[in-house]
Amino acid sequence: MFDKAEKLKNDILNATVNSKDELELFRIKYISKKSVVGELFAELKNIPNENKREFGAKINEVKQAAQDKFKALIVHLENTNGVESKVDFDLTLPPSRNEEGSIHPITATRNRIVEIFERIGFNVSEGPEVEDDWHNFTALNFPENHPAREMQDTFFIEKNPDIALRTHTSSVQVRVMENKKPPIRTLSPGRVFRNEAISARAHCIFHQVEGLYVDENVSFVDLKQTLLHFAKEMFGKDTKVRYRPSYFPFTEPSAEIDISCNICKGKGCNICKYSGWVEIAGSGMVDPNVLENCGIDSEKYTGFAFGMGIERIAMLKYQINDLRLFTENDVRFLKQFKTVQ
Ligand code: DAH
Repeated sequence: MFDKAEKLKNDILNATVNSKDELELFRIKYISKKSVVGELFAELKNIPNENKREFGAKINEVKQAAQDKFKALIVHLENTNGVESKVDFDLTLPPSRNEEGSIHPITATRNRIVEIFERIGFNVSEGPEVEDDWHNFTALNFPENHPAREMQDTFFIEKNPDIALRTHTSSVQVRVMENKKPPIRTLSPGRVFRNEAISARAHCIFHQVEGLYVDENVSFVDLKQTLLHFAKEMFGKDTKVRYRPSYFPFTEPSAEIDISCNICKGKGCNICKYSGWVEIAGSGMVDPNVLENCGIDSEKYTGFAFGMGIERIAMLKYQINDLRLFTENDVRFLKQFKTVQ
């Protein structure tokens, strides 16, 4: 009899259930009035008197084990939701490594550009990606029939030629100047859109950073020094900067900014097309018409502005030769920027 009770206890301790039905079977078999444990109690009367006490203690032990196990099985079922895990854990295995993500090179480059300019007093401002003609073109002095307004460059919103996806972050200049009085020193990073075929050098969605400084007595010298400072911080202290006369509707005079090629250090390579120089930005003195369009007195205030492509800066910084890599999100590419903050 003692052996029978002991075996029953072992059966109870080893029992498993994977569903509510199986739990109910366990209850009927080991807990209910008609359970095998109940049968053991019925056996008590056949036990010789001298052993009754000991046997009684034993069956109480079995009964308790059944009740404890029942509670444990309920908890187990709740945790596994009735689904038994088939995985055998090997606790001696080293833990699997957590794959850490990394900052996207475009974000990292944007952050670095912002950081450099914030340290010299620029704040960050943002504007909408869906813009109206005034902020994207008209206030910026674009002539009525300027080719950039036409369908091949600009994504217009269907049926409303007044609304478009902004083609540059210069639109944020206008919004800032309309809402603030000088002195203004602001940096506007953001996404821009142009109806262009996607290739290694062009994309229909890309990023720009716009810079704007408006105050009394701001001159071209301020522009030159500011951009020289930026170039040295971004690409190294030996970097040189040169300005080429150019044209933008919203600046006069206008200049394109080149830096000495940071890959061949000016000696000539295929990135700089053996010229030793690479273009990084457009810039110029804010056209008085633009200041006036935004309600700023052009007799009193002058300003400089610049705009650069974040992809272009990132390509030069990390020596990436195909713009499409930034949007393909191939982890083998992205993983290379793990150490970039
Ligand atoms: N908005 C110009 C572009 O997208 C870039 C640019 C040129 C911005 C000169 C400026 C500037 O602020 O002064 O090509």
